[in-house]
Amino acid sequence: MSDMIHYKELGLVNTREMFTRAVRGGYAIPAYNFNNMEQLQAIVLASIETNSPVIMQVSNGARKYANAAMLRGMAAGAVAMAREMGAQIPLCLHLDHGDTFELCKSCIDNGFSSVMIDGSHHSYDDNVALTRQVVEYAHKFDVTVEGELGVLAGIEDDVVAESSSYTQPDEVEDFVSKTGVDSLAISIGTSHGAYKFKLAPGEEVPPLRFDILTEVEQRIPGFPIVLHGASSVVQEYVQLINQYGGKLDGAVGVPEEQLRKAAASAVCKINIDSDGRLAMTAKVREFLANNPDEFDPRKYLGAARSELVALMKHKNQHVLGSAGKA
Ligand code: G3H
Ligand code: 13P
Ligand code: ZN
Repeated sequence: MSDMIHYKELGLVNTREMFTRAVRGGYAIPAYNFNNMEQLQAIVLASIETNSPVIMQVSNGARKYANAAMLRGMAAGAVAMAREMGAQIPLCLHLDHGDTFELCKSCIDNGFSSVMIDGSHHSYDDNVALTRQVVEYAHKFDVTVEGELGVLAGIEDDVVAESSSYTQPDEVEDFVSKTGVDSLAISIGTSHGAYKFKLAPGEEVPPLRFDILTEVEQRIPGFPIVLHGASSVVQEYVQLINQYGGKLDGAVGVPEEQLRKAAASAVCKINIDSDGRLAMTAKVREFLANNPDEFDPRKYLGAARSELVALMKHKNQHVLGSAGKA
């Protein structure tokens, strides 16, 4: 216990106030995943330039990739960078798709201000019990907790779900009151990754299940709702990747218009990872193809980082509506 590093020592904040203001204001806080320095720098820069609160999000895979101590140092560095630039934006460090109590505890003990416990692949009762256990520990340290009801299609970290099973609105009230969670991720037709929908030629992306969202909102009015799998799979990046040697066929995401509609509702956190991956890959491929004599990683990663900043600024300003809300 004594060697615990509390997030407040790092200058981070939990999600409580961010979400209250976002639900009231009809916008959503961006939750951007990061695994390396350039991604984190882009998150900080884009948030400062748009004066937006932000959630810096780390998956278990990211933790394995970057090392837990390194990540904590990076989050502290993000706060220091923002302060040095004169910005007072709220920065939250969040565990994405925690799957065990032990992982959530380890993050809470290592400077995270928010954790997700994803028990959605368990039975309802086991999900309640696991989520409750995490909430009890997290709340002792004023760390906020995101739970999940309903399973998204696609890959959730190590958890593979073959088809989406939408959130059942008649479960949410019971789940929230039994677990004490601070926010709830729901399944309304989004999925993780770059292949969210299988479309026949000429077919449009089907609308998300806003009817389920509305019913959830009616049952738990004003309660913070989270949308995972919310990348738009920007087609300019898919085309650039394919133009410069990549092969992404049929990659498609959630149209921005639907995300705007969600952000205006009780959806107050929108998770974006794949769009950042696509932006980086597109710009690295383009840069290397056009500059075959370059071998300085700062050049191609710098090009990728600039594009990430532009992408995130666009989302904050024109999709999520978090710009100016810091
Ligand atoms: O929801 C999953 C996130 O996109 C994180 O992906 O587990 O490959 O880091 P990852
Ligand atoms: P995307 O794959 O749509 O970016 O979703 C990311 C996500 O939900 C992270 O938890
Ligand atoms: Zn997710």
